[in-house]
Amino acid sequence: MSELHFDRHRRLRKNPTLRRMVRETTLSADDFIYPVFAVEGEEIKKEIPSMPGVFQFSLDRLGDEIAEVVELGIPSIMIFGVPSEKDAVGTGAYHTHGIVQEATRLVKAKYPELMVIADTCLCEYTDHGHCGVVRDGDVVNDESLELLAKTAVSQVEAGADIIAPSNMMDGFVAAIRQALDQAGYQDIPIMSYAVKYASAFYGPFRDAADSTPQFGDRKTYQMDPANRLEALREAESDVQEGADFLMVKPGLSYLDILRDLKNTYDLPLVTYNVSGEYAMVKAASQNGWIDEKATVLELLISMKRAGSDLILTYHAKDAVKWLKEDAR
Ligand code: PBG
Repeated sequence: MSELHFDRHRRLRKNPTLRRMVRETTLSADDFIYPVFAVEGEEIKKEIPSMPGVFQFSLDRLGDEIAEVVELGIPSIMIFGVPSEKDAVGTGAYHTHGIVQEATRLVKAKYPELMVIADTCLCEYTDHGHCGVVRDGDVVNDESLELLAKTAVSQVEAGADIIAPSNMMDGFVAAIRQALDQAGYQDIPIMSYAVKYASAFYGPFRDAADSTPQFGDRKTYQMDPANRLEALREAESDVQEGADFLMVKPGLSYLDILRDLKNTYDLPLVTYNVSGEYAMVKAASQNGWIDEKATVLELLISMKRAGSDLILTYHAKDAVKWLKEDAR
């Protein structure tokens, strides 16, 4: 034994206090963005079956949910709209009194300090469920850009603080930046879903937002999960076009991409810990197969460690409660 030389890594793991001192990454309420589903109608608080603990709220019921988010110290929400009527061109997305616009007005009137991020996309509002104008079975890029730009401007007119375009049309950041600037909104940041994969993990969201494509899939506009270099090209375009934040979506299976972007760009980086990721954790923990709190906090810290500055997650409220519990 006397000839044996090795490092004693365990020295720094000896007790909780020491572990706290050498911890490289931490989580706090400031890291989170909480997604909220606003639905047209009245007296609706409807749990999404595949997302236990997540609800669709009509505007008259949204107040308590937002109050809880604010009370927990979460600085920001992302609002998704579930309209009662849809059409081929997604009129509800850019209507002055659309569901997201009305929800935004309501929230901002009561909580001016809460940052409201608008998801700027058409799929929740189109009857075919695609993210833009469809012709000959595919989404037409440039025409869709016009509608997207209109949507962004109407969301900002309603009070949205940040625009988050998620439809993956080429040039969406450029088109939205130009439209916002022309409308006098030079100071509104764009949080681009720069790298968004055509993922199976969006399933529960599409139940929640009623936005499943009625034919085909999103593979002509969302990215192939097999590609890494293409993610860098996507991000580069958005940076050139003027994005203020970059997002990677989904989170868990794409932590390598997140790290690549962190190493390449100095913009704030966001991860979307998506609905399917949430559903997996919920299902396993409800079966008693994993410890929900420990699992969620581990997943979230991993996203931060991988390079995320902000995490858009359905676990946000629970995570903050657990962090507070642990701090006591
Ligand atoms: C809109 C949009 C989607 C999600 C966020 N914005 C669905 C999709 O692209 O099909 C998914 C979020 C989640 O799964 O939690 N385009």
